[in-house]
Amino acid sequence: MNGTTGFSSGQTINAYAEDIDLEQYTQSVVAAISSKASPRVRKAFPILIKKLHEFIVEADVTVEEWLAACALLVEAGKVTNDQRDEMVLVSDVLGVESLVDILEFKRTSEAAKKEQRVKSNEASHSAILGPFYRHGVQVQPNGTTIVRQFEKDADYTRLFGQVFDHEGKPIKGATVDIWHDAPDGLYDAQDPSKPQNHCRGRFATDENGRYETICLRPTPYPIPFDHSAGKLLQLMGRHPYRPAHIHFWIEAPGHKTLVSQVFDRESDYLKDDAVFAVKDSLIIDFVPIDEGQSSKAGYTVPAELKDVLKYELQQDFHLTKAVSKEDPGLDIQGLAIGGEPAR
Ligand code: BEZ
Ligand code: FE
Repeated sequence: MNGTTGFSSGQTINAYAEDIDLEQYTQSVVAAISSKASPRVRKAFPILIKKLHEFIVEADVTVEEWLAACALLVEAGKVTNDQRDEMVLVSDVLGVESLVDILEFKRTSEAAKKEQRVKSNEASHSAILGPFYRHGVQVQPNGTTIVRQFEKDADYTRLFGQVFDHEGKPIKGATVDIWHDAPDGLYDAQDPSKPQNHCRGRFATDENGRYETICLRPTPYPIPFDHSAGKLLQLMGRHPYRPAHIHFWIEAPGHKTLVSQVFDRESDYLKDDAVFAVKDSLIIDFVPIDEGQSSKAGYTVPAELKDVLKYELQQDFHLTKAVSKEDPGLDIQGLAIGGEPAR
């Protein structure tokens, strides 16, 4: 049989047709979505299916390439555990985690401004979480160090700042999680020879909304490139390096949690971060401290670290007031394993 063939949900593909109508084929896949699916699924999945089909058609993807892509994702799943998320890394090298972060910030800050849930234009900018956040770290006293093993020749830095609410008032009792790489470019989870929580700590802000610690000036490092994400980088002829940065996770009751990073202005890779996370507003300066004395009075520096302090870094955060979520969105985690699909 010759000619073109049309599709609607419930029709088969006419394999004899000379010219299969691919748009109608895509349409039939979209039309298969049930009216019982949630509003979010009914809105997002047609876009997903159309763009995915468009890519396959436009790039003329072969069966071999498709299977190789599936194998890459299978490998990512196999090496993922509670210390490492290869799927997030895959999304990172394709710029997806940063894109989602950019959209989330735009969406939530515009809504917050409109509803006066943030002091005008002052919401601190977010950045991607990355794979090395750790839940449940014990709060430690302000002024104490997160460097759990002495690092010879490292640039010790007094890091401090205040956390403000949506009206610009300091928040007491906000938690501030901080983590960065050690001078060898590794996070604690990547180096079992280092003490637990090396270069990682959690603080609670005082009555002035202030947190303070002693950390190190971080160094650029390569993201893990020994599995799927590394293969993608190789395919694209790209390097795996990130510019030197410090991560933050700030939480305060009644406020939207802020996940962010700050980037050292003097670091390499600011313009070619392997995961595309650098925002201008997050580029900061490490200010040299003269003669081991911090210019900004704060908590007392532990005696054994006085002589090694080289820099200080002030980083304040402005949070937005939280709103309760009306749209439950895609509750993928909530789906029962082995749950009955619709018939
Ligand atoms: C990080 O900054 O820790 C990171 C972010 C994305 C991918 C890998 C590492
Ligand atoms: Fe990092």
